[in-house]
Amino acid sequence: MVELQGVPGFREFYPENLAARSHIFAAWREVARRYGFEEYDGPPLEPLEIYTRKSGSEIVGQLYEFEDKGGRRVALRPEMTPTLARMVGSRARSLRKPVRWFSIPQLFRYERQQRGRLREHFQLNLDIIGELDALADAEVLAAGIDVVQALGLDSTQVRARISDRRLLSAIFMHLGVVEGDLLQVYQIVDRLDREPQDRLERRFAELGIRSEVVEEILKVAELRGIDQLEAAFGSIESVSGHVDELSRYLEYLDKLGVGHFVDIDLSVVRGLAYYTGIVFELWPSGRDFRAICGGGRYDDLLGVLAGIDMPAVGFGMGDVVLLELMRERRLVPEYQRSVDCFIVAIGHAARLRALEAAQELRSAGLSVVYEFRERGAAGQFKSAASLGARRAVVIGPEELEAQQARIHDMTSGDEQVVRFARLAEALTQGV
Ligand code: HAM
Repeated sequence: MVELQGVPGFREFYPENLAARSHIFAAWREVARRYGFEEYDGPPLEPLEIYTRKSGSEIVGQLYEFEDKGGRRVALRPEMTPTLARMVGSRARSLRKPVRWFSIPQLFRYERQQRGRLREHFQLNLDIIGELDALADAEVLAAGIDVVQALGLDSTQVRARISDRRLLSAIFMHLGVVEGDLLQVYQIVDRLDREPQDRLERRFAELGIRSEVVEEILKVAELRGIDQLEAAFGSIESVSGHVDELSRYLEYLDKLGVGHFVDIDLSVVRGLAYYTGIVFELWPSGRDFRAICGGGRYDDLLGVLAGIDMPAVGFGMGDVVLLELMRERRLVPEYQRSVDCFIVAIGHAARLRALEAAQELRSAGLSVVYEFRERGAAGQFKSAASLGARRAVVIGPEELEAQQARIHDMTSGDEQVVRFARLAEALTQGV
């Protein structure tokens, strides 16, 4: 026998795993609905170029890319944002703005496998397109925080770390970094807590950044809280407007009731290249493995991919880290099989009548299972119990003769005799 193994990093969802995934998806959809977002989807396979243009080298290095039989360079989608930008861009004129859309795509990245990182994952994407005001930034983060709250996590278990790339670039340029090096400096800062100090210093040196400036950059990454930020840079003209913008954002988050989740942390710059403004990540507190969610403002991407000048902000929240965290905190509901009725049929004639009963009950909306093969009543009751049936409907020769069935409550053991004609009605009441 050939033992076929799955591809590493790709999950199989047995029913109990799928139930956990569905629990997360239900919370994603419910919170998106509460915030008035509409669901969309795009193709899982895209032209390679939509990622090479603007997503940045990290994600491009992880692409599942190939040439299709028609000679096109294509890639499995590693993220949703370029697809969204193209879709909104090509209908920009007719869509009501701001666009508030969400999606739950499966994404593919050839990453080194480790805890919280797989080669496929599902990601809630929730984005607002067509609004510049920081209130839109606050709205999407509030929705992200509401998702983790809906799943039972609180502000001691999850923290939102926020920053702003415009603020960072103003500070870094004030410190003497030239504009052309900013993107690379962000990428170094993004890896501060993931790479050893000497390697980071080498990367700064390669850019020709002096060690005094590196020291100042590292100090900026340590700043916490709006007060520290104001004290350090509030009086510098090129920076102070961005500090004000960040404090307005914080005020909105407070009013939206999620301020207690939020910390300013300027070491958050995000790995993707297209962010232009406020950025944020949700982390398990203790920051033990990886962010649950990341996002921010990307005001230029629609211009690059669709030739349309439209500001945008949003996030992606993955299912993998979220599920691990929920497992750790015992927040995943226990998996339980359940069906409404199991029909226990005794004897050949009763079994045939049971099929008709099953279809009547299914038409009435109930879930109904019966045994495929003839079996004793005790064995059938055992099956009913193992499937989590709430009621057994017993049809034997006597019941058949009297044109009635016995409804057996699997929890209390109570029984009730009902005429066949009234079976669906009796079972749907109180179901
Ligand atoms: P991202 O930071 O690359 O952002 O991914 C967002 C989240 O997806 C991460 O925080 C993580 O939880 C999850 N994730 C990413 N890669 C993996 C992986 N290999 N295995 C498991 N989970 C993973 C984006 O993708 C942006 N496009 C989000 C966005 C939407 N920005 C604006 N709108």
